[in-house]
Amino acid sequence: MYKLLVLSFLFLNAASAEEKVWITLDSDALSSTMSLDKSFNSKVYSSAGISLIQVNRSEVENISHMMHDQFKRCGGYMIHESLEEGLELIDQAQGLKSFVGKSIFTDYQINQKDLVNRVIEQVTEKSITEVILKLSSFKNRYYKSKHGVASSTWIKDHWQELAKNRNDISVDLYKHKKWAQPSVIMTIKGNSPEVIVIGGHADSISGFWNRNEAKAPGADDNASGIATITETLRVLIQNNYRPEKTLKFMAYAAEEVGLLGSKEIATEFKNNNVDVVGVLQLDMTNYNGSDLNIVMMTDYTNSAQNEFLGTLIDEYVKLSWGYDKCGYGCSDHASWYAKGYPASIPFEARKNNMNRNIHTAKDLLSVSGDHSNHAVKFAKLALAYVIELDQ
Ligand code: BES
Ligand code: ZN
Repeated sequence: MYKLLVLSFLFLNAASAEEKVWITLDSDALSSTMSLDKSFNSKVYSSAGISLIQVNRSEVENISHMMHDQFKRCGGYMIHESLEEGLELIDQAQGLKSFVGKSIFTDYQINQKDLVNRVIEQVTEKSITEVILKLSSFKNRYYKSKHGVASSTWIKDHWQELAKNRNDISVDLYKHKKWAQPSVIMTIKGNSPEVIVIGGHADSISGFWNRNEAKAPGADDNASGIATITETLRVLIQNNYRPEKTLKFMAYAAEEVGLLGSKEIATEFKNNNVDVVGVLQLDMTNYNGSDLNIVMMTDYTNSAQNEFLGTLIDEYVKLSWGYDKCGYGCSDHASWYAKGYPASIPFEARKNNMNRNIHTAKDLLSVSGDHSNHAVKFAKLALAYVIELDQ
């Protein structure tokens, strides 16, 4: 009995010293991963080219380095807090696999330096400012109001004008049954079935009573994101960029009342097995409120893609960045995340230093000094993301 107590004491101690986590990775990296961990003794679950194993939490950083050095993968694995969660992913992967026939882990690489460096130089503060001013001149962009409809129609018309010389580009209203404001989707058709989504919400909100007629300029939340997306597609079109994957630029309706527009769209994409390889959410990009220029939210997002975005900032934007948390599903990325798609939201500031004027009549460009210098950084990042992920 005494022996048993000592043994279990030792065992518990050892267990707490060597905390374990489950990870999934592409099966081709399995043997390299196993040989990193001298005491590897985990059961291996494999299916659809993906393996689920248990490793010491302290080993995860080494695995990350190995993936980077040996497989040129940024990330390349996913951490799961339980066996069930890992099995669920394998299950999902099997479904996805039979549809797309390839790895669900994206191989993040940087190999378009000349092109990216050339196009990011063409981002202009002026064209971003023009769109922010136009969108914030609507009385509001509330999802139920006539102004909400008019502002989204303006976005559609503006995007259509930018794409008028391209027959591989379409701009459509995505109509929602339960409210008046439509979402807007620009599609630049590629050759492969893979899809990249760059999105942000078009709606704005303020007050409690009579929201249909309340003043809600939403210059930062989120005219800034829509203007950043518009600048990204404007520069791509100006360079006659012909993507390999299909690019979808989205201006969602009804985010401010529970992510409703994006929820409907992400659900439809999932139901149709659309192979979305990456989602970039741009919501609030023009208030330079903290020491970090760009802040990657870690919750409801994909950590490998977040890391990739950080690498892109280092390579192309060359400014400080870091991580923070929203603490809840604070924007449309959460709608995609909930459907199993890799989503990220690079944000304008740390959560604590965010723009306090949002959701009021004071959310104006003047709060950001009447210019869009901060949003320029996000347009450059979005261009780098689209071009590198496309290749
Ligand atoms: N732009 C905000 C999200 C946000 C706010 C991100 C602060 C980071 C910091 C978004 O438009 C919003 O207001 N979201 C709602 C939640 C949503 C589920 C209705 C919010 O944060 O209250
Ligand atoms: Zn908001």
